[in-house]
Amino acid sequence: MDLQLADKVVMVTGAASNIGRAITLGFAREGARIVLGDIDVPQAETVASQAMTLGAASTEVVGCDVTRLDQVQAMFRRAVDRFGTVDVLVNNVGWDQLMFFTQTTPEFWEKIIQVNFVGVLNCTHAALGVMAPKNRGAIVSISSDASRQGEPREAVYGGMKAAINSFMKTIAKENGRNGIRCNVVCPGVTLPEDDEEVGTRSMWLNKDSMFTPEQLEKITRALPLKKVGRPRDIANAVLFLASDAVAGHVTGQVLSVSGGYSMVG
Ligand SMILES: NC(=O)c1ccc[n+]([C@@H]2O[C@H](COP(=O)([O-])OP(=O)(O)OC[C@H]3O[C@@H](n4cnc5c(N)ncnc54)[C@H](O)[C@@H]3O)[C@@H](O)[C@H]2O)c1
Repeated sequence: MDLQLADKVVMVTGAASNIGRAITLGFAREGARIVLGDIDVPQAETVASQAMTLGAASTEVVGCDVTRLDQVQAMFRRAVDRFGTVDVLVNNVGWDQLMFFTQTTPEFWEKIIQVNFVGVLNCTHAALGVMAPKNRGAIVSISSDASRQGEPREAVYGGMKAAINSFMKTIAKENGRNGIRCNVVCPGVTLPEDDEEVGTRSMWLNKDSMFTPEQLEKITRALPLKKVGRPRDIANAVLFLASDAVAGHVTGQVLSVSGGYSMVG
């Protein structure tokens, strides 16, 4: 299937690690021009050179904290200066630390809100400013299955991911007339296959602080497909939704890629 993503200008936030890395390498295999935005610049440079090896047409690494609108606007200016436009935005940055709500603090809530939701607002606002005048574009935001059903120890994170689902549907309705499609992918537990896939700012740096081996085994047993996700599973769904050639009539959708963890009718 030809996704017709060659030479498309694709911006991936949080491109340096795990899922964002796999998304970047997926677009690289399709021959896209890729802007890698991350706070972890050295690791993003490593992923960019892997992307070039796999067939990316070009790469541009931009140090950018998505919670800072000025930095996000500067990242878009850099993309437009170098490539003339941004065809696809992948809002991939996210962060969590698993704790029961009663153990969390207002400072923790604020960080979760900023990184998981305000970052998406900043990047989407900047993207629409570039895409709307061109009458085309695709935005794919990475949410979580924690947004679709209550998930213990992920209260604020799940709430912010649910906010993304709703926000993207509204943006899809407001911008369909401008030829812009907006969709959401909800991963379930998605583990790196190798330590080298994890950036220095990744929430997976210490995997055991997220799940003990026993918890992971229990999670895996409960999944209909009996296996956790891998980053390329998420990347495949993102590439599909980003492609006008194959998903040109798909907008405002929330797709779980989670081994069947949640099934929404
Ligand atoms: N891995 C999973 O099990 C899982 C499950 C559900 C949802 N998700 C979502 O998938 C996305 C990717 O998760 P992951 O597992 O690859 O995470 P990760 O922590 O491995 O990678 C996140 C990347 O974002 C970067 N980053 C963090 N804060 C940033 C900021 N403020 N500005 C710019 N860059 C920043 C980090 O440097 C890192 O490169 C996130 O939105 C996450 O919430 C992941």
